[in-house]
Amino acid sequence: MKGLGPGFWSVTLLLTVISLVNAWYFLFGSIDWIMPGSTNPVANVTYDIDGLFKFMAVFGGAICIYVTGYVIYFAIAYRARAGEPPDAVGAALHDAPTLEFWWTALPTLLLIVLTGLSIVVWYKIQFGVGSATGLTTEVIGHQFYFEFRYPGLKTSVFSKTEPMHLPLGVPVRVLITSSDVIHQFWVPEIRLKQAAVPGLVQNLNFTPLRSGTFDIVCSEFCGVDHSKMQGKLIIEPVAAFNKWLDGEKQAAAAGGGAVVLTGGTAAAGKALFAQKCAACHQIAPFDQRLVGPGLLHITDDPAHPTLVTGLTPTPDHIAAILQNGFSGPIGTMPNAQANGLAGQDIANLVAYLDSLK
Ligand code: CUA
Repeated sequence: MKGLGPGFWSVTLLLTVISLVNAWYFLFGSIDWIMPGSTNPVANVTYDIDGLFKFMAVFGGAICIYVTGYVIYFAIAYRARAGEPPDAVGAALHDAPTLEFWWTALPTLLLIVLTGLSIVVWYKIQFGVGSATGLTTEVIGHQFYFEFRYPGLKTSVFSKTEPMHLPLGVPVRVLITSSDVIHQFWVPEIRLKQAAVPGLVQNLNFTPLRSGTFDIVCSEFCGVDHSKMQGKLIIEPVAAFNKWLDGEKQAAAAGGGAVVLTGGTAAAGKALFAQKCAACHQIAPFDQRLVGPGLLHITDDPAHPTLVTGLTPTPDHIAAILQNGFSGPIGTMPNAQANGLAGQDIANLVAYLDSLK
């Protein structure tokens, strides 16, 4: 292979050493700063996905190092020399069949191996390991919170007010869908991410291996409050998980009583509106929508004599929407539980809305 230039093999040796150091770092070094928990994985599949990452970091890193290194080397070795005429033609190099064979064969082989490894991991996440059935939970994306459902629990758990809970060491299947737009359920420390698509149920299978509290993030842009669509996941021993679930069941059985509207104050309602409602509603005419309609004159708007529920705009009927949420052609609003509204909060909000005559 003549014409490769002086020092070609020395440069090749240097690039090989850099690639080996890179490989050593990703295989044996501390990479927790880019892959939190890589030495102490949160779930079984975390191992596998980190393995794929390391494979790509080692071989992709080597390709990056060789290509960049040779580009720099050849730019220097074949630079225009002082005294050469401006129209001098550089060395013409073509046809190096041995090189061309290897730079085609090696990446092809790496891609085939990577495909095989990825399919194995995908299968595990998609279908779980063996026939072990543990807990099946459901995650439903809403603008802008996650709803979690558990077997035997009649009410839902909402990410705005409560964390999702999962038992340690139990194979978990999480079914994921959305009620409105496309969201994405992502737990970075487990390395698992799945799109929440309306009308489609997808799933993730994994076994939690480490207890703790982890972030849940929506990673698909879904509207004005996408950046606030986050929650927590608590992984805890089975006994603690069962205790929590039993508590939720008891609370659901106790149920929420009727809201008493007397005693609500407009001032408290106004402050609460800024916190809880202003992301989706503004105090403006009905047609000035953010996510939901404007709420000025909700009780005395001649153009809209009824609420979105079709009922007259009395305080009780407004309170019913706040309590139960709403779903219809105009949009979807979470219920009081999802919004973290107690009975007194509803009374205050209704007093405020009623004062906007
Ligand atoms: Cu939901 Cu972004």
